[in-house]
Amino acid sequence: MTDMAVILNGVSFQYGRLRVIDGISLQIPRGVSFGLLGPNGAGKTTLIRLLVGLLRPSSGSIMCLGQAPSRRSAHLIGYMPELPALYGELTVEQNIDFFARVYGLRDARARRTRVGEVISLIDLDPKRRTPVMKLSGGMKQRVSLGCAIVHKPPLLLLDEPTVGLDPELRVRFWEYFNDLTSRGTTIIISSHTMDDAAHCGQLIFLRHGRIVARGSPQELKAATGNPHASLEEAFLHFIRQSGEGDL
Ligand SMILES: Nc1ncnc2c1ncn2[C@@H]1O[C@H](COP(=O)(O)OP(=O)(O)OP(=O)(O)O)[C@@H](O)[C@H]1O
Ligand SMILES: [Mg+2]
Repeated sequence: MTDMAVILNGVSFQYGRLRVIDGISLQIPRGVSFGLLGPNGAGKTTLIRLLVGLLRPSSGSIMCLGQAPSRRSAHLIGYMPELPALYGELTVEQNIDFFARVYGLRDARARRTRVGEVISLIDLDPKRRTPVMKLSGGMKQRVSLGCAIVHKPPLLLLDEPTVGLDPELRVRFWEYFNDLTSRGTTIIISSHTMDDAAHCGQLIFLRHGRIVARGSPQELKAATGNPHASLEEAFLHFIRQSGEGDL
């Protein structure tokens, strides 16, 4: 077994004639938080959907935890889509329980305990019997995360999980993510915010479906040549260096 959670070899993807992922090769070790940063349309969501197995590469190959992504490997992956995919009429508890069943948590007692744990973690105990359609946007985001983690998957693919979260919850989420990675979970997370980027062990900056820089937050800042550069400045530096300067 390889110590790599994810291996991409020359992966390209096209929507019709539009090439959105352009020859990406990448290895992501187990037990890290790995950030995908890039401007709107860079290909972050498409890359995550390729890793989940919802899209197939036009060329190249992908291995997640030693397997090509498919329905059979779905229980190994927790996926939080960019837009919450929840059942509005079902309560918080029912939504999380539904995903727990789908992911194969069969024992009713163990499932109830786990659903309770997840609801506490996302801090929605008072709302557990509220239909999801009556929640605020940030609360729906938290339920969506709860559904992705309920089966404790070794690989988490989170598409902008911190959008709409208040600062206190953002801190809590990152504490939880760090706890997961320290116990061997691999987390791949797309984001626009430098706050998230700073928490990641490793990052790539994507532009037009290509990797324009890769490294730890410290390495990326240092690589700009400016010892005082912020991560935001590093991001703009690499994005501009990679093209005509337009985002
Ligand atoms: N279903 C689709 N059909 C055709 N083109 C698409 C489709 N989904 C995305 N695209 C195009 O693919 C490119 C990459 O989109 P993607 O959603 O992966 O970007 P992103 O990096 O996630 O952007 P954002 O930061 O806005 O979420 C964009 O040019 C987008 O218009
Ligand atoms: Mg996206």
